[in-house]
Amino acid sequence: MAELHIIDHPMIQHKLSIMRDKNTGSKDFRELLREIAMLMGYELTRDFPLEDYPIETPICGMTGKRISGKKMAVVPILRAGLGMVDGLITLVPASRVGHIGLYRDPETHLPVTYYCKLPPDIKNRTTIVVDPMLATGGSASDAISKIKEEGVSDIRLMCLVGAPEGVKKIQEDHPDVPIYLAALDEKLNEKAYIVPGLGDAGDRIFGTIYTIY
Ligand code: PRP
Ligand code: URA
Repeated sequence: MAELHIIDHPMIQHKLSIMRDKNTGSKDFRELLREIAMLMGYELTRDFPLEDYPIETPICGMTGKRISGKKMAVVPILRAGLGMVDGLITLVPASRVGHIGLYRDPETHLPVTYYCKLPPDIKNRTTIVVDPMLATGGSASDAISKIKEEGVSDIRLMCLVGAPEGVKKIQEDHPDVPIYLAALDEKLNEKAYIVPGLGDAGDRIFGTIYTIY
């Protein structure tokens, strides 16, 4: 089974706590999400291979290092995943970006797909699926299945806050996909919101708050 990585760096925990606070507004929420996505990106790319190449400094020649191997693709799950794209592509500017549109049916809590556009060469890329919330895991699991249908073999899932139920679902459905979280929370409530969580991530990013938790 692929690993669960909890990235509990103090800077990430500090920023995440401000995001969780219900008094934090959309502007700060978006900025913090972007910053955390970039910080998590450092950890997620830690095993990217390097190759040597010759460079000349103003003083002498030396052997430099550059990232080698597969290029990266970032696939946000709409809407809330959009808030994590900028941070990651700032870190890896050559990334291609795909989009998968899913929303949770409010009654069944099951994901409904409404959009999918992926880079044509995605199967040759290391693909990072991003979404702030991993609740039941249904949305992320369906998104990963769609990406696998394109022949992608190297997929990583990066979320901000996860529930044990969501982690279990991904590990059962996609045992080859490592999960990166900033926090593993306690549980889901009866409406499948993460407790303590941070509320509805999409609503908080885009200021469309009419969700009843
Ligand atoms: C949220 C969140 C995830 C999903 C997680 O999206 O951004 O995509 O719920 O829940 P799950 O793990 O139980 O599937 P939502 O359906 O609220 O859509 P939105 O991003 O458009 O607000
Ligand atoms: N989606 C969210 O945005 N928040 C949750 O807690 C669960 C699903």
